[in-house]
Amino acid sequence: MYFRPGLFSQSDPGPIIRTMTPPWIHDTAILEQDVQIGDATTVWSDVHIRHGAVIGEQCIVGEKTYIAYDVLIGRRCKINAFVYICNGVTLEDGVMIGAHTTFTNDRFPRAATWDLSELLPSVPTEHTMFTFVKRGAALGAGVCVAPGITIGEWATVGMASVVTDDVAPHMLVAGNPARRLGYVCRCGWRVATFVHGPELDLKEQGVPCGNCGATLRWSAAGKLECDASE
Ligand SMILES: CC(C)(COP(=O)(O)OP(=O)(O)OC[C@H]1O[C@@H](n2cnc3c(N)ncnc32)[C@H](O)[C@@H]1OP(=O)(O)O)[C@@H](O)C(=O)NCCC(=O)NCCS
Ligand SMILES: [Zn+2]
Repeated sequence: MYFRPGLFSQSDPGPIIRTMTPPWIHDTAILEQDVQIGDATTVWSDVHIRHGAVIGEQCIVGEKTYIAYDVLIGRRCKINAFVYICNGVTLEDGVMIGAHTTFTNDRFPRAATWDLSELLPSVPTEHTMFTFVKRGAALGAGVCVAPGITIGEWATVGMASVVTDDVAPHMLVAGNPARRLGYVCRCGWRVATFVHGPELDLKEQGVPCGNCGATLRWSAAGKLECDASE
């Protein structure tokens, strides 16, 4: 229903169990026209979802969160309270967004024209920048994401970070500006720490996760992936 080819990762996120449970929307939530909400998704109090936004199945949208028009959100995403998701943002399947996280889409913002005679429109322009949070990634509480950022699959952003650059898959970043601290497994556990610089601790044979048993390794295609076969 919400899937738009080319925007989401092509890899299979796993079957959706058809619960036939309709979405549950709190009485105080505001849903504008042409909003699509998937089965078994929960929308809590005072959430405002603007026109054209699409949210997949089995998501949670925490209270007082704002989701701008035409935002795309995949399946099984968890969005905590007080999150601001602006136009131009796409969250793939299984993304976690901590409370008070803010996305941005305008690098050099202005409210009005230079002579202040006219309010500038809020609709997307050629300057609107697009942000993608790839499947399985997690942003901690109070993160601020710069315009035009891609946060890779299964990456983690530490709480209160300011993300000013793209984040590679499985990368753990934190701070202001967010710096690379290590790698995380798809289960979220840190499996490698950068002590003297990036890449140092990720051995060629891969690094096992102490939590779920998967091994994080470079694939033949040069992509960092979790391998659950061992
Ligand atoms: C980033 C994070 C995953 C790191 O956890 P960790 O691997 O256990 O790392 P540590 O706590 O051992 O910290 C490692 C170093 O990074 C620093 N650090 C940790 N989190 C940080 C953050 N968010 N911003 C800046 N620095 C951070 C620590 O101070 C420490 O620095 P030091 O080595 O100079 O002492 C964790 O701190 C975090 O932010 N988790 C997200 C929590 C959250 O917001 N959850 C939302 C849902 S409730
Ligand atoms: Zn793991």
